[in-house]
Amino acid sequence: MCGIVGYIGLDRAGSVMLDGLKRLEYRGYDSSGMVVSAGKGFEQIKRTGRVVKLEESLKEPQLGGNLGISHTRWATHGDVSEANAHPHTSSDGKISLVHNGVIENYNGMKDFLAGKGYTFQSETDSEALCNLIAYHYDKEPKDGKKNPFHEAVRKSLRHVEGTYGIAVVCPDFPEDLIGARKGSPLIVGIGKGEHLLASDVSAITHCTQNVVYLDDNEVVHLKKDNFSISTVSSKSVEAVIHKVDWDTSEAELGDYDHFMQKEIFEQPTSLENGMRGRFSDDGSTAFFGGLNLNPQELCQIDRILFLACGTAWHSCLVAEYLIERFARIPVEVEYASEFRYRNAPLDKNTLVVAISQSGETIDTLGALREAKRKGFRTLAINNSVGSTIARESDGGIYQHAGSEIGVASTKAFTSQIMICAMLALYLGRLRDLSYGDGVQIVNALKKLPEQVKEILKQNDKIAAVAKKFAKYEDCLFLGRQLMFPIALEGALKLKEISYIHAEGYPAAEMKHGPIALICEDCPSVFLVTSGETFSKSLANVQEVKARKGKVICIATEDCDIPDGLVDETILVPECHEIVKPILMSIPIQLFSYHVALERGCDVDKPRNLAKSVTVE
Ligand code: M6R
Repeated sequence: MCGIVGYIGLDRAGSVMLDGLKRLEYRGYDSSGMVVSAGKGFEQIKRTGRVVKLEESLKEPQLGGNLGISHTRWATHGDVSEANAHPHTSSDGKISLVHNGVIENYNGMKDFLAGKGYTFQSETDSEALCNLIAYHYDKEPKDGKKNPFHEAVRKSLRHVEGTYGIAVVCPDFPEDLIGARKGSPLIVGIGKGEHLLASDVSAITHCTQNVVYLDDNEVVHLKKDNFSISTVSSKSVEAVIHKVDWDTSEAELGDYDHFMQKEIFEQPTSLENGMRGRFSDDGSTAFFGGLNLNPQELCQIDRILFLACGTAWHSCLVAEYLIERFARIPVEVEYASEFRYRNAPLDKNTLVVAISQSGETIDTLGALREAKRKGFRTLAINNSVGSTIARESDGGIYQHAGSEIGVASTKAFTSQIMICAMLALYLGRLRDLSYGDGVQIVNALKKLPEQVKEILKQNDKIAAVAKKFAKYEDCLFLGRQLMFPIALEGALKLKEISYIHAEGYPAAEMKHGPIALICEDCPSVFLVTSGETFSKSLANVQEVKARKGKVICIATEDCDIPDGLVDETILVPECHEIVKPILMSIPIQLFSYHVALERGCDVDKPRNLAKSVTVE
């Protein structure tokens, strides 16, 4: 949510930041701006709309410069306008700042600063912090003992309630760039004769692969050739440099039109990468390197609590079905944002698992911290190496799905389900699951990449179905058992990128209310698999047809769907129960993608959304 790029070093600040903003645009795209030291002094350029608007406004000198800060915004305080876009500059012109997060006590700050003569151009909380730094800077002694700019930032941050990732510059110090974080990620990039700041590694991997992840309450002081980190309360911190193993082509579209499309088609590879090296030699179980829990400790777990938001929460629901069924461990699933403030009583042998693609979702991070504070063992299933959630959990499993840029999660979802299936297998084999059952599951998982490729070959057919259904304004997604979370995910995918009102329900629950919506103009997508609830699902289809509802049926090949019962059928390969949620997800992703295209929607940048939600 919002992206930050800062730069100090060689004479290319503007162009490096512009590249970085383009890579970060999926995090927020209401407006963007930069302050860059170009020629005579600092220049500020801000534009509403996409980063391309900023790019069109930049002049040659502004693409150079040795120092700058920049931002792409997802509005929290104040509407989308140039005044509210970042960077903000203090009313005395001494400080410019870009900010991610929310300053909760900004009203009090503004009142205090107004009394001291500072004025405000925007409705943002961020401008209050910018002026507060200017206020402290004004008061700091300029006797050369301490850097007054650095001190002013630190002193101001001691007064902040809320969250921040910031990058700050001061025209009096054209060789200094300062960053700080609390609750909102900030990463230092270390180059040759240059340093960068970014809210996300993907913004800087085109310049360097050496990074330092700042922790909460840390302030970094960057110069061209060196940097130092200290806490807000002035204790120095030793920097730990990480090498990011990042394929920069992941952030590029290649032959695809959209990142969502690219990521849907990458699923054979992302699934393959997530299981590589994680099966036992006897082919009957999975294992994970980073759990930090030995088999004895895992056998003492009485309950697992999964925490997540959005699509990742749907993965947790799948995990609930799989772990209860194959490992016989009771599972609970909570929205992270609810758990955090609910004070739920938990048994001491509960393992808490947070699932998050980005590893930066503030609600999930807050819930994880709350669980840790109460003394629970925590694990993270996470796609972003080095993310805050990955670093703060006691152990974890990386998804290795590759970076996901499309705001609508696709490959991260199927990879999360696959990791949960492997976890169910591993925990099951530590308990009652037999060797033979384990072998069957491993074989089913290994077949996944090829089976996903088969489904992807139906892209044109699914596009044709989507074309027929794109005109409707309402849609239900219905499925039983393991297909219920996939129905929820189908509804979320469709609504977030095509703005069609869509709801997911357990198919049988339809009769308890949603059936009232069924009519010629409200189609249903049924997710039907073979097994004990197959005939019940067909009965639910009949109930919809009896009320003139149109039906798209996504089914496994071994389902015998009576001729003429449904309007459209999309088949996925016959498979083991444990992988059905993965295979059945692919058609709903393609369907949503093509419906959104048909309606002329921007699938990678849907309105009001941002990829990673780092504010509460
Ligand atoms: O990065 P996370 O997995 O923690 O993100 C959680 C949700 O914000 C995310 O899944 C969101 O619901 C997606 N836009 C869904 O496509």
